[in-house]
Amino acid sequence: MVPSPHTIAVLPRAPHNGSPVPWLTSLYHKAYPGPYGDRRYPGNCSGELIKDLFLYFRPTRVLDPMTGSGTCADVCRELGIECVSFDIRNGQDACDPQTYEQLGLFDFVWLHPPYFRQKRYTDDPRDLSSCPTLDGFLNRLHLLILNCRDALRDDGRMAILMGDYSDFEFGFCPLTYHTKRLCFGCGFRQQCTDIIRFSHGASSSSKTYRSSFIPGLHDVCAVFDKSSSPTPQ
Ligand SMILES: C[S@@+](CC[C@H](N)C(=O)[O-])C[C@H]1O[C@@H](n2cnc3c(N)ncnc32)[C@H](O)[C@@H]1O
Repeated sequence: MVPSPHTIAVLPRAPHNGSPVPWLTSLYHKAYPGPYGDRRYPGNCSGELIKDLFLYFRPTRVLDPMTGSGTCADVCRELGIECVSFDIRNGQDACDPQTYEQLGLFDFVWLHPPYFRQKRYTDDPRDLSSCPTLDGFLNRLHLLILNCRDALRDDGRMAILMGDYSDFEFGFCPLTYHTKRLCFGCGFRQQCTDIIRFSHGASSSSKTYRSSFIPGLHDVCAVFDKSSSPTPQ
């Protein structure tokens, strides 16, 4: 069978509204990542999405507890937003409440955790990508979400970028579902539509696999309000 060629997807037209970033819709498709972070860093994400979120929500003090290559911090620098950012690679564990002592409160958390063991960042057992089991990973993700909730002002928001996980041995794991489940359990309420981010430039896209599967070509950004949740538990 001949593989289908790349085609141009025609996106649905978005309704006119008062958004300062009308291109920020449930389908996010900018192929250009912007001059933020380092594209060579494993799991690096586009700064354009972070920038559009900040232009929409207008935070003044942002927490990014999983720096990676510094994409969020770079966006904050450009927009003149105060940003506190750290990473396990510098010895700071985002799952440990002590890490947040003395940091004060934030009005926005940008959270981009590892997608379970999709990319291994360090050998530090506190690193989420080092968790040997899914239960271990989800337990640490839960601690992370609790810490971020406690670091937020009562009117604060948290955006989490997460992708589903799949490998030959494990099969498919709906990490985006588990992430939301944990957030709702911590009292968060989803603020707006899921933002489905097209994964332009994912390293897996250029690989060839012998097995047959339906490729996932997106990850999901969900934005939550800290305010108490009417979502059924
Ligand atoms: C998906 S990457 C973030 C990439 C980043 N958004 C960028 O654009 O470069 C996830 C990051 O989480 C970090 N990390 C994993 N476990 C952590 C922990 N317990 N505390 C703090 N950082 C952790 C990893 O070192 C990695 O840099």
